Amino acid sequence: MGLILSIESSCDDTGVGITRVEDRALLLHRKISQEGAHSKYGGVVPELASRLHATAFPKLIEECRPYFPELVGVAVTNRPGLAVTLQQGAIVAQALGIGLGVPIIPVDHLVAHIYSLFIEKEEVKPVLVLLVSGGHTKLLWFNGIGEICELSSTLDDSVGEAFDKVAKMLGAGYPGGPVVEELARKGGRDLGFPLPLNRRDRLDFSFSGLKNAVRLAIEKGEGAPADIAYSFQKRAIDHLLQKLEIAIQLTSPQFVGVVGGVSANKLLRERVGELGKRYRFTPLYPELKWCSDNGAMVGRAGIPLLERGDVVSPTQLKVYPRTSFPKCSFLRKNFPSKN
Ligand code: KG4
Ligand code: ZN
Repeated sequence: MGLILSIESSCDDTGVGITRVEDRALLLHRKISQEGAHSKYGGVVPELASRLHATAFPKLIEECRPYFPELVGVAVTNRPGLAVTLQQGAIVAQALGIGLGVPIIPVDHLVAHIYSLFIEKEEVKPVLVLLVSGGHTKLLWFNGIGEICELSSTLDDSVGEAFDKVAKMLGAGYPGGPVVEELARKGGRDLGFPLPLNRRDRLDFSFSGLKNAVRLAIEKGEGAPADIAYSFQKRAIDHLLQKLEIAIQLTSPQFVGVVGGVSANKLLRERVGELGKRYRFTPLYPELKWCSDNGAMVGRAGIPLLERGDVVSPTQLKVYPRTSFPKCSFLRKNFPSKN
């Protein structure tokens, strides 16, 4: 068959990969992270990110050059993400596609996160997915052969965004996830922030109330920063777990996957592991190096698309800031008024 060159630039990580179609082997993986450049702004600045992708890609693509003769396709994240950064990856993909005469495989970034569970793995399993990233928080059902439906999403902020904003409010640094997790380890007093959407007939997520509770606690000087980080992390994960548990009761999954940047969080992994023992499912997590955005997951997600012929010609490639999945039909029975 041949090799897929994959490209990721949906946010602030420039990633490429070379994946062999036959056996899913990852032959090359490179990533340039822009964290340092954005840290002084406390968040990603799209135009700066776009410029940094433009300078990073030539270096990374040069490393892929030895594999060019064997390429059978270029997989590229074309949705969802920042339009200006997606565009940088798309331009590179188009140039390669035209120059090498190979098709483009447009990949949904969220689907790529699901495939981060299956990098270098032949077999893909049906899995209930808790997708927790900087841009999204969703419960998805993945049937193992490429079809995905959505059980729920966040009504406002994503969980990763909440971690980032809490870190910023605490003056703790960027990116917020690892910083808050580290700070929380030094805390232990629970300030009792309210549990968002605490009802069993709702599967959605919401993090704006929790974020506000943190802001008020900081303004009133309630609790040391470590205790605030501890209490926020605990309640954010309580919220994720409450909704995940309802989804497990609905779907009785054999496998539950946690993917996206926040899946690196140790407490979250611990708590999903406990749920796994109670409900007898096998938890799946990406290797730590594949939790945040990377080109390897885009290449792995590209294989079934190429095999199905879901490709476009280089000139047809478009980027989209948003994506959507159909709602899971089995929800209508259980949540008739909401879905
Ligand atoms: O998936 P990702 O790399 O980018 C998007 O697709 O959005 O996720 C980045 C998010 C950031 O919000 C970051 O703060 C969060 O993942 N994150 C964490 C941890 N490591 C990264 N959140 C909580 N705990 C962590 N250890
Ligand atoms: Zn991501």
